Amino acid sequence: MGKPGMAEKLVDVLRRPDGDINRRPVHTIGISATGYFEPSPIAANFCVAEHFSAARTNVIVRFSNGSGCAAVHDGWSDVRGLAVRFHLSPDRDTDLIAMTLPEFFAPTPEAFLDFAHAAKPKLYTGETPWQKIVNLLQLILPKRDPYPNETISPDDGAIEFADHNPFAQLGVLQAATIGAPVSYVRAAYHAVHTFIVTDPDGMRRWVRFSWQPIAGVLRTDPAAPPEDDYLQDELKTRLASEPARFSLMMMIGEVGDDFNDSTRPWPPHRKRIMMGTLTLDAVPADQDAQSEKLSFNPGLLTDGIEASDDPVLQIRTDVYKVSSTWRGGTPCPFSQE
Ligand code: HEM
Repeated sequence: MGKPGMAEKLVDVLRRPDGDINRRPVHTIGISATGYFEPSPIAANFCVAEHFSAARTNVIVRFSNGSGCAAVHDGWSDVRGLAVRFHLSPDRDTDLIAMTLPEFFAPTPEAFLDFAHAAKPKLYTGETPWQKIVNLLQLILPKRDPYPNETISPDDGAIEFADHNPFAQLGVLQAATIGAPVSYVRAAYHAVHTFIVTDPDGMRRWVRFSWQPIAGVLRTDPAAPPEDDYLQDELKTRLASEPARFSLMMMIGEVGDDFNDSTRPWPPHRKRIMMGTLTLDAVPADQDAQSEKLSFNPGLLTDGIEASDDPVLQIRTDVYKVSSTWRGGTPCPFSQE
């Protein structure tokens, strides 16, 4: 085997001692669902991609917990993922991968590698009540106590890194306070990077996508957390009785917005276009083939949608290919290349 490139290093650094080498190194726990996407009446005016003009496009999605821990801890504060694969015709797919964090931790692959090294899980001890008081007196936020059975955590390393690297501060702060959703379909998910969409006149726009849940965003009460393993059953029960829906929102960037750095938010008053509705109505029975082995890739785009020059988005095509190969996932859309 040759020297590891950046993609291999990035996959390797994410592995945790409580992970599983045969599963994803992050977003390890997940469940897939199927349904369809219907574009809004105006979507095709902004983007020529097939799913914005076809009446209906079938999808498979995978919801996940962001952690690379292979044990289920739904109740723990954690980023959640929503990866969507649109089945275009014939035999072509495009992916849109999103998570509950609106901004990322690092502007470049090199900076993310440093961050991930710093945030490698360490023994999590919490603080004594006295230490919390001393910290409060010094205007330092006391650390949360570890959850039952939580022995290691990336929190300390991530916070320490953010203390010295301002670009990570927004992402780390948001991740530290993100909590747990009551349902996978009661969280908003962001594709984080900037993409370029082309309209029927050939005009290109720099945009950011997010999924907004029609049922609304709701987190669990940290003072009265549910059982630690509830998200998958909740989804199965919910979809057996009624479909769940998300709106696909597209924010249009303007001059001065950062198009190539996903640590930097855009002003909240940017124009937002409602691009369509995702309806989920079933959970596939074969979760091994349809979720565990499935391989999404943020580089799997289609005519009308391009990746921006964001170097993190660029490297992710190789990162997900390497990860899928290492864990024996099938089929990675890029592994035949
Ligand atoms: C350099 C930056 C990043 C690295 C190194 C990285 C790495 C990875 C890896 C290795 C996987 C597992 C892939 C597989 O085995 O199939 C993964 C999955 C995932 N990542 Fe990232 N990631 C990065 C940035 C992001 C960003 C910015 C987002 C949000 C848009 C994101 C959201 C997700 C989600 C939702 C999954 C789970 C996909 C699934 O369900 O299969 N990641 N990531």
